[in-house]
Amino acid sequence: MRKKCIRIVALLMIVCVGSLCGCVSIQKQDKEANQRGALEEEKPLSDLPGKNRDHIVVGFSQVGSESDWRNASTESFRNMFTAENGYYLLYEDAQQKQENQLKDVRNFILQEVDYIVLDPIVETGWDTVLKEAKDAGIPVILVDRTVEVENDDLYTCWVGSNFEEEGRRAGEWLESYLKWQERENDRIRIVTLQGTLESSSQIGRTQGFLKVLDANKKWEMLERRSGEFTQAKGKEVMDDFLSTYKDIDVVISENDNMTFGAIEAIEAAGKSCGPAGDIIVISFDAVQAALELMKRGKINADFECNPILGPFVSDIIQRLERGQEVEKIHYVQEQYFDASMNLEEILKKREY
Ligand code: AHR
Repeated sequence: MRKKCIRIVALLMIVCVGSLCGCVSIQKQDKEANQRGALEEEKPLSDLPGKNRDHIVVGFSQVGSESDWRNASTESFRNMFTAENGYYLLYEDAQQKQENQLKDVRNFILQEVDYIVLDPIVETGWDTVLKEAKDAGIPVILVDRTVEVENDDLYTCWVGSNFEEEGRRAGEWLESYLKWQERENDRIRIVTLQGTLESSSQIGRTQGFLKVLDANKKWEMLERRSGEFTQAKGKEVMDDFLSTYKDIDVVISENDNMTFGAIEAIEAAGKSCGPAGDIIVISFDAVQAALELMKRGKINADFECNPILGPFVSDIIQRLERGQEVEKIHYVQEQYFDASMNLEEILKKREY
């Protein structure tokens, strides 16, 4: 009798545990189904808040927010791709990670956007995802940096700066500045703060400068190292350069934010820079804050990189909407600034 009772209790326990497990597993399935449902619910573009039927939907995968230039670029897209201008912008900040950009592009494809705008962090690794966008019939417009792919048909077009030209012009500026200083026969020791390695802006600026460096046998490149386009890293690398090399004549800094960090490091080491200082500083971007520093005598020359690409991209989209052909490569106009110019006046008109 006792044994029978034990068997009945054990059976009841198995039934209870079984149904509890069932509940848990049903709840889990429901949760997963809800999560998938939530993703699918986000999918129809008509459900996006504030979007109307006529809006052109643009998915933009931005590099990150590593520099003043980058922030000006983001603002340019946000200002251009507004509802008033007929757009619905899906903006993603990839935080300087290519894997995030790959996800962004795939999500844009899932959401069936009308256009994908991509500022690729580095040049390689895009073939597969761009093929997916092409197969989905979504035009991809590259901005600022570009890609190295087997087949250029994988993207519609590219708009941005001629980075190699920027680097070459920086080298030529240094050549004529040293001549003006009557130092053309001196040994000139140079260090370079490079941008994010493998990005188009880093590759182009390094190569462009290298062409002039190779032609100047008295110039010595002590070291090139990446400061990742950020102020903090720029300072860290410059601190290191200053403790490794006793005499540095020139710093080539591949963007303004690294230059800000480099100036901090130079001053902390008890040295000075700019036209009246110990070290010549050449920078890229020419954002307002850098031109202010140039006005204060800390930067010698700055080669512009134009971040206002939103209007160019909008123009390209409008032409594509009308069924017109667009050119594959669009270079934007750029200039340079140096400390001999009327910076007071230049700064009055500077937009970024
Ligand atoms: O690709 C453009 C570069 O990226 C800019 O020079 C720099 O400031 C940015 O982070």
